[in-house]
Amino acid sequence: MDQIIVQGNGPLKGEIPIAGAKNACLTLMPATLLTDQPLTLTNAPRLSDIRTMTALLQSLGAEVAPLQDGQVLALSSHDLTSHRAEYDIVRKMRASILVLGPMLARDGRAEVSLPGGCAIGARPVDLHLKALEAMGAELDLRDGYVHAKAPSSGLRGAVVEFPLVSVGATENALMAATLAKGTTVLRNAAREPEIVDLAQCLRRMGAQIEGEGESTITIQGVETLHGATHPVVTDRIELGTYMLAPAMCGGEVECLGGRISLLSAFCEKLDEAGIDVEETPRGLKVSRRNGRVRAVDVTTQPYPGFPTDLQAQFMALMCMAEGTSRLEETIFENRFMHAPELTRMGAQIEVHGGHATVTGVEKLRGAPVMATDLRASVSLILAGMAAEGQTTVSRVYHLDRGYEHVVRKLRGVGAHIERVKEEEQV
Ligand code: EPZ
Repeated sequence: MDQIIVQGNGPLKGEIPIAGAKNACLTLMPATLLTDQPLTLTNAPRLSDIRTMTALLQSLGAEVAPLQDGQVLALSSHDLTSHRAEYDIVRKMRASILVLGPMLARDGRAEVSLPGGCAIGARPVDLHLKALEAMGAELDLRDGYVHAKAPSSGLRGAVVEFPLVSVGATENALMAATLAKGTTVLRNAAREPEIVDLAQCLRRMGAQIEGEGESTITIQGVETLHGATHPVVTDRIELGTYMLAPAMCGGEVECLGGRISLLSAFCEKLDEAGIDVEETPRGLKVSRRNGRVRAVDVTTQPYPGFPTDLQAQFMALMCMAEGTSRLEETIFENRFMHAPELTRMGAQIEVHGGHATVTGVEKLRGAPVMATDLRASVSLILAGMAAEGQTTVSRVYHLDRGYEHVVRKLRGVGAHIERVKEEEQV
């Protein structure tokens, strides 16, 4: 397994291009199952999760051609040869569950392995299933799979009231509703920019959708959808991650493609902490005001609140802030695994359940640390860049799921970072 070696850094300078959003692309790709016409996605990120979703769609008989070195994905699912999403693919990536709604809506049947939990939580899919049942689907859970069937007349429109906000369940229900007979109303729907991006792509394909980005989305089912070409929205989590690099190391970095509207709650917290964010014609220019970063409190919330996917990275910033910061993680039950690793670097963090109290220190110290999940991995890299000495981050395969060319991008603004093969354990 590879490691990333980071030396403590001085101020950064330069620009970082931000890629298309992983979490948008992972729901846009299954949308190809809703039509037998070609769907082309541009600005696609080149990530291992995208390759996993490609393999899954191909296992169902869809054609997925990565063009221009993966920047463009040409998808087509003229005739599906299978309706079964196998466990050995689904277990690698939970977003695989997003083929369930589209397959059910178009062909009336689907067998999808239950994704199981992951490092950050149990990650149930009950809300996905309840929404599809409300649309008339018959679901049978057995041998670790969801065996789903639509009525012979197809799915029907329904009012779906989500008891809690779920990005994936909103996406599955939204895609299924585009071909259901009648009107579907999704209440307490997720409002993330990735949902808005999916709705815009589906509308390009002929879907009739209103209200995306708000808590109530209304969909008029149509007979069929046609093909489209759609640009994947900028990745707001990659954006926020790289904005923290100058916040922690000093200097000034411009994140190309970034817009404050994608991350307003996060930018408000950066401002409170003493970080300047300036919107430019090309993106967001980020720099640290004089003196130390100030400690601020954060509670993660569904969009438009502070994103849970930036909590680990923001904690790394708070580790070197002046004062004490209280971080509350309300979305996932086990998303502080980066805390013990940061503590190895001299951070002072106390975790109790969903709350972490961080008392900032003047300087972190480099140390060997281990990545535990996608967003934790990059928070350790950021901490290593701001620390004194060398940090070695192991298990960086987590990184490849969500960050394209992280070493190249950070080197481009002056970071002392390299990726090496892990010494063979003797
Ligand atoms: C999406 O996951 C993202 N993944 C996650 O990003 C992100 O952290 C999460 O949304 C929240 O914003 C993708 O888009 C591929 P949820 P998802 O359904 O859809 C509970 C990353 O780092 N829940 O909004 O799985 C669930 O346990 C990843 O890029 C149910 O109880 O998240 C959680 O506590 C990590 N039943 C909460 O809802 C369900 O049926 C929010 O989960 C579904 C979810």
